[in-house]
Amino acid sequence: MSPAEPTSTSTPRAGATAGDVPASEAAPLSVPERIALSGERSLRVLEESDADELYALIEANRAHLARWLPWAPAQTREGTLEFVRAGREQIDRREGFHAGVVDAGRIVGVVGFHGIDWQHRSTSIGYWLARGAQGRGTMSEAVGAMVTHALRTWGLNRVEIRASVENRRSRALIERLGFRYEGDARQAFRLADGFHDDAVYSMLAAEWPAPAPQPPGGA
Ligand SMILES: CC(C)(COP(=O)(O)OP(=O)(O)OC[C@H]1O[C@@H](n2cnc3c(N)ncnc32)[C@H](O)[C@@H]1OP(=O)(O)O)[C@@H](O)C(=O)NCCC(=O)NCCS
Repeated sequence: MSPAEPTSTSTPRAGATAGDVPASEAAPLSVPERIALSGERSLRVLEESDADELYALIEANRAHLARWLPWAPAQTREGTLEFVRAGREQIDRREGFHAGVVDAGRIVGVVGFHGIDWQHRSTSIGYWLARGAQGRGTMSEAVGAMVTHALRTWGLNRVEIRASVENRRSRALIERLGFRYEGDARQAFRLADGFHDDAVYSMLAAEWPAPAPQPPGGA
């Protein structure tokens, strides 16, 4: 996984991403280039041309991000570009995608899937926002759109999100979306100051209230 992984709070089950259909035989993964959110906000699959803007955002928010994300202290411009490239390759492998969270034309964060377990129809999501973009419901809406895509467009059954037990803002977001708390994974996550317990949450397809998104121009 790239050192620029935008969250590292969740790990798909080892060896599970190959799925029950060989990637070479499967249809291309359905990935929208853009998902509209409310106001001037949207999600947009990251491109290599975004790397400089993304790196500048990380640089400006390094201390804020380093509190919760192990890749943040040492992230480089080259590492950011590698992360964006890995995200494009992830789509080709049918393992999900990463998107920039865009507000008024500027990237203010990242949300993405860590992988897809096709055998068990399961995925996990991670995210981060710039400090100044917090407090407006942006990431709640962004994660909600990603959950809808996973459960409705891809037909997955389970979305997992993990957050350090001390990460109040992230846990509030997950609970705001109605995820069920399953318990703590002990010392599952390592930051510069040592191991942290992860709070594990899940959403199942049968529990998620959002219907499938309508195709553009559809009835
Ligand atoms: C985790 C993180 C994305 C949460 O950011 P956030 O701003 O709290 O989340 P949202 O964008 O969903 O906004 C929710 C806030 O907006 C407010 N809000 C305003 N309008 C809202 C709306 N329409 N819908 C929901 N919330 C709204 C909420 O009350 C909440 O504010 P509060 O915490 O002061 O009560 C952010 O703190 C972050 O990136 N932290 C560093 C990295 C990190 O921890 N990543 C996650 C690792 S698991």
